[in-house]
Amino acid sequence: MTDQTTTLDFSDGSPAVTFPILTGTVGPEVIDIRALYGKTGRFTYDPGFLSTASCNSKITFIDGDKGELLYRGYPIEELATRCDFLEVCHLLLYGDLPTPAQNADLQSRVIKHSMVNEQMQFFLRGFRRDAHPMAVMTGLVGALSAFYPDSINLHDAHQRDISAIRLIAKMPTLVAMAYKYSVGQPYMYPRNDQGYAANFMRMMFATPCEDYKPNEVLVRAMDRIFILHADHEQNASTSTVRMCASSGTNPFAAIAAGVACLWGPAHGGANEACLNMLYDIEREGGIAKIGEFIARVKDKNSTVKLMGFGHRVYKNYDPRAKLMRETCHEVLSELGLHDDPLFKLAMALEKIAVEDDYFVSRKLYPNVDYYSGIVQKAIGIPVSLFTAVFALARTVGWIAQLNEMITDPEYRIGRPRQLYSGAARRSVIPLAQRA
Ligand code: SDX
Repeated sequence: MTDQTTTLDFSDGSPAVTFPILTGTVGPEVIDIRALYGKTGRFTYDPGFLSTASCNSKITFIDGDKGELLYRGYPIEELATRCDFLEVCHLLLYGDLPTPAQNADLQSRVIKHSMVNEQMQFFLRGFRRDAHPMAVMTGLVGALSAFYPDSINLHDAHQRDISAIRLIAKMPTLVAMAYKYSVGQPYMYPRNDQGYAANFMRMMFATPCEDYKPNEVLVRAMDRIFILHADHEQNASTSTVRMCASSGTNPFAAIAAGVACLWGPAHGGANEACLNMLYDIEREGGIAKIGEFIARVKDKNSTVKLMGFGHRVYKNYDPRAKLMRETCHEVLSELGLHDDPLFKLAMALEKIAVEDDYFVSRKLYPNVDYYSGIVQKAIGIPVSLFTAVFALARTVGWIAQLNEMITDPEYRIGRPRQLYSGAARRSVIPLAQRA
């Protein structure tokens, strides 16, 4: 924090008002305008929050110009290659990487909470088998709050910690259940002798009919996908979780709100939309048709977007996209799919786009969703489940951000105001007299 200030002058002769400027560890300073309305009777106006810092956070930092992503100060490149997902969960939740003892404790706590109440399976039966997994997940995650009355008080640190472990532990089980339900296979229970990612792969792909041994390269890739999606500052779904929790509702309900928001194709739903885009181009003729597709993207009369490209914050390469592309190579090579036509198409499309002025001038680069679909498809995860996997991974980030908000002395219920441009006050004319 510094003693810098800025002053707002008004052309109508209203008195000038001075505001403090706050400085963080790194990144843009902020103008503390909390007193603005009280001093001027005016609001700021910032739809989409392009110039608004909604909170003071210590968790994640993005430098969009440099293409840098830090979780609690550690570069994503180092975390994704030197840690596993539960170590990153410890970092995000508690502020630092775990010691071996802390790591073993967290692994043990999570694995022992990975089963869900047997009643949960009856919620699934209410859905059609072809229900979108995100519709199922929105319902199941919210329903968890009905099973754990001992961990729904948001203002009790111990209950918040238990609900955090329960959510991190049960999301893989619920996502796998949503998948098994969609294919009509029996649910597979988690095993206490398996790691987090291996357990998820087992619950997804094993059946009671034979032993299942996950491929270690694919398990590592799955774990890395979780790490890359774990948190990302105040994105739409995280802001939704913060806003929802600010009313004091329970953690499960707040995370369910985040799941619902993530579903959108402009946000977490982009990985599913990106793979479907690649399928469409492939069906139209593949690499030979990229030029026509790009022309449609540039056509202002079309609503076609290059899914998996562009980002509100990154105006350079999303570092997660680079790591995801490397993971793509590893997985496709391991599976002998290095000639995978979709991967070749995606790389050709990326090469053309990043050299095309339309994208260069708008600073549109691949984001985390561009390659994640190809990796997940190669691992065997169905396209419709991609965003549910994203929600699984982002749950720890949502919880860490929720906890930070609840313990922030400056926290209050979120209640933005507006610029009103509707009808001025008027009286009701009785129905019989209306023209
Ligand atoms: C995620 O916020 C996060 O951190 C999100 C996320 C996370 O980890 O939580 O990173 C995860 O959501 C990644 C983003 C996934 N979404 C997509 O890949 C969908 C495609 N991308 C776009 O919808 C868009 O880029 C957004 C939504 C990501 C960002 O939108 P902005 O910041 O509001 O930018 P914009 O829509 O105002 O675009 C600026 C210009 C516009 O052109 P002009 O009006 O200036 O001529 O760029 C164009 C847009 O039309 N543009 C695109 C484009 N993205 C932006 N044109 C074609 N294809 C695209 N993908």
